Amino acid sequence: MACDNNSMPQSYEYDVLIIGSGAAGLTVALNLPEHLNVCVISKADISSGATLWAQGGIAAVLDATDSVENHIQDTLNAGGGLCHEDAVRFTVEHGKASIDWLIESGVTFTRKENDDQYHLTREGGHSHRRIIHAADATGQAVSTTLASQAAAKRNIDLKSGRVAVDLITNRNLSLPGNRCVGAYVLNLEDNHVELYRARFTVVATGGASKAYRYTTNPDGASGDGIAMAWRAGCRVANMEFNQFHPTCLYHPHAKSFLITEAVRGEGGVLKLPDGRRFMDKFDDRAELAPRDVVARAIDHEMKRLGADHLYLDISHKPADFIKHHFPTIYEKCLGFGIDITKDPIPVVPAAHYTCGGIISDDRARTDINQLYVVGEAAFTGLHGANRMASNSLLECLVYGRAAAQDIARREADIPNVPSVPAWDESQVRDSDEDVIISHNWDELRHFMWDYVGIVRTTKRLHRAKHRVDLLQGEINEFYSNYRVTNDLIELRNLVTISDLIICSALQRKESRGLHYTLDYPQAQGEARDTILVPTTYRTLAP
Ligand code: FAD
Ligand code: SIN
Repeated sequence: MACDNNSMPQSYEYDVLIIGSGAAGLTVALNLPEHLNVCVISKADISSGATLWAQGGIAAVLDATDSVENHIQDTLNAGGGLCHEDAVRFTVEHGKASIDWLIESGVTFTRKENDDQYHLTREGGHSHRRIIHAADATGQAVSTTLASQAAAKRNIDLKSGRVAVDLITNRNLSLPGNRCVGAYVLNLEDNHVELYRARFTVVATGGASKAYRYTTNPDGASGDGIAMAWRAGCRVANMEFNQFHPTCLYHPHAKSFLITEAVRGEGGVLKLPDGRRFMDKFDDRAELAPRDVVARAIDHEMKRLGADHLYLDISHKPADFIKHHFPTIYEKCLGFGIDITKDPIPVVPAAHYTCGGIISDDRARTDINQLYVVGEAAFTGLHGANRMASNSLLECLVYGRAAAQDIARREADIPNVPSVPAWDESQVRDSDEDVIISHNWDELRHFMWDYVGIVRTTKRLHRAKHRVDLLQGEINEFYSNYRVTNDLIELRNLVTISDLIICSALQRKESRGLHYTLDYPQAQGEARDTILVPTTYRTLAP
């Protein structure tokens, strides 16, 4: 790594710049050859993305009674005819090796009582028990283990408090060729934008569910990587398929706390306020139907009854069983005065997962050379119109390893990056009206929830499009005049993401998987991806 310390702001040069330190980014970093200088940046703490909060576990074929074909078939069924079968097969076939790698890396998964075998749980859409987990805090085990492994590597610099603002490509530099050469990054310690040049850049920035008012996601899930790649010229696909998790804890003081689907997998049942079950009216698989079905059923019943939440009840199971399997949820709910061994849990659906993203191939390559994308920011074709539970951490691992292998294979042929000008702050000043940012954040997330949520109509989508266009104009003007801050960067990205979601939703004139519209309640014959092409894509040289 070369660093120019004499001038402000600083500039850095690495072989590989990884933007994001979740399961996807850290998997790439840890699988790269050690002679490469690698930098992993995170806008918040190293362990703070969605990975940290994952509860249920990771899906893989680990039991003799299960098979790769079963896992593939379940994923295809959940995906509503839109999964790319080659991507599904690639992911599932590499599942066991990825779990073995995690175990070798030191992740401790829950084993069965009185038995050395790993305990596998069930979740919606899975025909077999195949979710390996660390009690109900799988993400914490994965995130902290990978982060400590990365911290111990001499070739990896881990930097928190660094927010990527934009990718740098040959096109920005008016140079020939279609290549990414790094990123401009805001250092939150001194509020200067620094230059990171890199032979390879990997976007691992996670999802975009913060576009919605209610979400299970942590604060940083503002789709930064998807928005940056779109501005740089990458195509994105299937952004209309935002997954809503059926069961987020409903409590005035509980911010974004998920109640894992494994609670239903282990026998938890959904109930109306009067205590009656209802899921069997909507699907033969009842509580274990795929998420889109369960979330829509809850939404339907809440609207029908005018209820602000429903209930998830596992209190019929022995208290010791509940505390053993769900220690985090038990403690968290108890903190809010809900004893889940005795009482039902108040729940509502909330935005949870971005199925669409930056188009990539089976080596995680994008439309721009030397720019890779992994994890929730990517569109690999795996999830189709509805992601099956616990397939996403698997995707992070499988494609993270594939990206690292591809970079290792190609790196000797990739030359150093050209010189790049520093970020120009000469034309901007400090904002004196931050209220515009907070107001627009709230407005955006409110209308996305109301107009572009679980059930859509064309009229509501047009309303949302009108508003997003107005906000986009205001925010772009603000961005051109004032110094960047983390809030401004996220808002600028969220408004782009919302526009991509709305435009994709308007293009899909059918209901399929997670996209349900009252104007077209049926699926059309042939399943097609919604591919959006930025104007900059057309100018990319081969
Ligand atoms: P993340 O883990 O979200 O990491 C993103 C990283 O990018 C962070 O380090 C963030 O700081 C950084 N970043 C973002 N923008 C910038 C920027 N501009 N500059 C610098 N850094 C940036 N999936 C499963 O398979 N099983 C589960 O049990 C499961 N449970 C879940 C429970 C919850 C509550 C949630 C929210 C999700 C769950 N998911 C689960 C989904 C899964 O956790 C995520 O899809 C996955 O962790 C995404 O990993 P990632 O590495 O792509 O992104
Ligand atoms: C959960 O534990 O319910 C979340 C699993 C997932 O999102 O894959």
